[in-house]
Amino acid sequence: MKHLLKLLDLSGEEITELLNQADQLKYELKHGIAHPHLKGKTLGMIFQKASTRTRVSFETGMVQLGGYPLVLNASELQIGRGEPVQDTARVLSRYIDGIMIRTYGQDEVEALAEYGSIPVINGLTDFEHPCQVLADLMTIREYKGNLEGLKMCYIGDGNNMANSLIVGGLKMGMTVAVATLPEYKPDPAILTFAAGYGDAFTLTGDIAAAAAGADVVLTDVWASMGQEGEAEKRKAAFAGYQVNAVLMANAKPDAMVLHCLPAHRGEEIDAETFEAHAAEIFDEAENRLHAQKAVMVALMK
Ligand code: CP
Ligand code: NVA
Repeated sequence: MKHLLKLLDLSGEEITELLNQADQLKYELKHGIAHPHLKGKTLGMIFQKASTRTRVSFETGMVQLGGYPLVLNASELQIGRGEPVQDTARVLSRYIDGIMIRTYGQDEVEALAEYGSIPVINGLTDFEHPCQVLADLMTIREYKGNLEGLKMCYIGDGNNMANSLIVGGLKMGMTVAVATLPEYKPDPAILTFAAGYGDAFTLTGDIAAAAAGADVVLTDVWASMGQEGEAEKRKAAFAGYQVNAVLMANAKPDAMVLHCLPAHRGEEIDAETFEAHAAEIFDEAENRLHAQKAVMVALMK
């Protein structure tokens, strides 16, 4: 593994190794065992979009690994004034040891990896959010003991989270059911990938059918970063695609609910369901730290 550009690039074995390493790093942190695997290394983090969790967990994680995190706000870089990502990649490769980037186009992340000579980590694009889904898989495994054979259900927009959940879930041997609207389906490349898994993947408009017998139910915002102008239209379209007690009655009685956050209570999830599953949701947020430390160790050690 040279980069983490998208979960589509990883094998099930590679994902399992990352989750095992994340569990180990979590154990070491909780028990005060130092783990300075990246002593003397620098991670540059480029943000073209807002972030709380990704920024703080990468920054803290790098410090815990003995390295140095450098936050590079795109608006303060020449990249924000149009310097090509290809040149930025070649310059940063001369100074630092890894790049985390949060941006719009997946092509930018791929170009950084192609032109640079250091590992690149996708901290969210419009196409995938691989770091989040590694944390999600880690959290599900913590609660359920294993992933294989579990049913994952995703309700809502066929966005970056839906894309990465489909790939991560199927690669880990889960069955995945997505309920969305025809005009907001996951990316065609993801649907082509999922088609290779036969009955393990279903795409439906029926939220109750998608949630039937589910072990874990996930959702995400209806308007992602960059889609703010469509928020009202999407709110109207997705009304009825809410994770709430009525929907959860279809899932297994001990089903988990996860949300990558930030959550919009009263839209994709109601406040009662969110609070009933807050322990899982904030474990999920915490696990961003451990999962990303595992990624950095795998790529940058
Ligand atoms: N879930 C997630 O990526 O959160 P941030 O946007 O706060 O980084
Ligand atoms: N789909 C959301 C995820 C935020 C973490 C977005 O891209 O804005």
